[in-house]
Amino acid sequence: MNALEKLFSLEGKTVVVTGGAQGIGKVVATRMAEVGADIVIFDMQGEKAKEAAEEIAVATGRKTASYCVDVTNPTQVKEAIEKADAEMNGLDHLFNNAGIVIHKSAYDVAPEEWAKVINVNLNGEYYMASEFARYLKSKGKKGAICNTASMSGHIVNWPQEQASYNASKAAVIQMTKSLAVEYCKDGIRVNCISPGYMYTELTCHVNPDWQDRWMDLTPYGRYGKPEELCGAVIYLLSESASFTSGTDIVVDGCFTCV
Ligand SMILES: NC(=O)c1ccc[n+]([C@@H]2O[C@H](COP(=O)([O-])OP(=O)(O)OC[C@H]3O[C@@H](n4cnc5c(N)ncnc54)[C@H](O)[C@@H]3O)[C@@H](O)[C@H]2O)c1
Repeated sequence: MNALEKLFSLEGKTVVVTGGAQGIGKVVATRMAEVGADIVIFDMQGEKAKEAAEEIAVATGRKTASYCVDVTNPTQVKEAIEKADAEMNGLDHLFNNAGIVIHKSAYDVAPEEWAKVINVNLNGEYYMASEFARYLKSKGKKGAICNTASMSGHIVNWPQEQASYNASKAAVIQMTKSLAVEYCKDGIRVNCISPGYMYTELTCHVNPDWQDRWMDLTPYGRYGKPEELCGAVIYLLSESASFTSGTDIVVDGCFTCV
């Protein structure tokens, strides 16, 4: 392994990726496998998660597995971590990526819709991160967690109205800092990424007028590609980030600069 490869290697590590059946999770999982990681996908789309895991194994030659898991269910989360630990012979890192959005104004959003977004994006990431940290501690292992916030945790998106999403992602940034401080004594690092508009299933079907507006508002004038997040996640999970915890890497084509 040359010096450059060493900087961003995940060789010998097993990474759990939530929401890895498609979109950002699947692309980042594939790239992590290319730099040496074995991959476990947790996703509520069980069949799609299985297909993604198999595709990654064929493409990279790494060991992969998948579990049908709803991250809002703490019992399922705990059981899946235990099963994955046994199947993969140990787990090291977590890319906590599953998330949803509901575009509704604060006048119209129903209490159960508000709660659903908070439950997946904030509570789900918390259940995964805290159970994963408990697992690492119980095994006497060090490891790293990369949560997924958003530029929506920093700014208010426009013209779509989505206060539940924005609030959930701002909370993920603060949760990341809080867990980073709590877990540093056990050698567990916690960071997050804040993507801007990335071209995935989450964004590509929305009202074309909104999409045009988003591109106008993004100085780069285009969507980001999920591939453009891989380096940030791999860095945060790698040994190169051994003194980096509680931080957020914004990858947004300058959206939040203006
Ligand atoms: N696409 C963007 O522009 C963008 C921007 C900023 C942040 N993000 C964040 O990135 C993450 C991934 O987004 P994406 O664009 O790839 O979305 P996506 O909709 O393509 O994929 C999300 C995945 O999460 C899974 N998922 C949803 N709820 C789940 C649950 N309760 N339990 C388990 N799995 C669940 C889905 O099945 C899906 O496979 C999300 O957290 C999202 O908020 C996306």
